[in-house]
Amino acid sequence: MNAPFVDIHNHTIPGVDDGPKGMDDALKMASIAADDGIETVLLTPHNRDVAALTRHGRLDEQADRLRQAAATDGISVRFLLATENYLEPDLPQQVEQGTALPINGTSYILVELPYMGMLALYTDDTLSQLQLSGLIPIIAHPERCEALASRPEVLEGFVQRGMLAQVTSASITGAFGRDFQRAAEHMLRHGLVHVIATDAHMARGPRVPVMSDGVRAAAKIVGDERALEMATTVPAAIVEGRPVDVPEPKQAKRRFGPFR
Ligand SMILES: [Fe+2]
Repeated sequence: MNAPFVDIHNHTIPGVDDGPKGMDDALKMASIAADDGIETVLLTPHNRDVAALTRHGRLDEQADRLRQAAATDGISVRFLLATENYLEPDLPQQVEQGTALPINGTSYILVELPYMGMLALYTDDTLSQLQLSGLIPIIAHPERCEALASRPEVLEGFVQRGMLAQVTSASITGAFGRDFQRAAEHMLRHGLVHVIATDAHMARGPRVPVMSDGVRAAAKIVGDERALEMATTVPAAIVEGRPVDVPEPKQAKRRFGPFR
């Protein structure tokens, strides 16, 4: 499979967050991505690390350095810029101040919720504020978020309210273990996730920038055509700021509740 994939969640900028430490590893990642058919990579360092380690002017420069090094090495990947934004009550203000970056200057914004434990009480309110300011939140890897994996109907509520969700390729293949895989499969089956991305952090192990395996695994659940769209046309529309057509979610089965 050598499709023109678009990866909207990726930590290839070196030395900024928990991605690669140096340019050599970053270039290895870029090369793996290119070999997998990834044509466009949206660089999404964690906003909290970026704010702590650098200034946003420099983030642009760091993305440029990566672009130049990749071009010198003959790696033909297009790099775009955003941040992966941890949901905090002041996230709308961080966007206004430019310390949390929407996707490639569009209205889409990648939002990360906590991996463990319950969602914070301000979650709904802050997501609504982002929407009221004209942004469309894309929930990063909900299958790896305990609160959403155990209660997918909460994610369904977000989707019904006009948000999108990104599932991680390695979760679908089972590279992160059976629990994450089951959650990913459930969300795929119920139309609760819309884009496949790598969330790549390194040049080896399960967090490499490879999408083809995840697309193949997703195809067994949603069919070849939909799986491919989730890695090509849907993310391409997102990085260009165009509307995306997503299927209506199928009612996610309640897994917990007081009435059964
Ligand atoms: Fe990430």
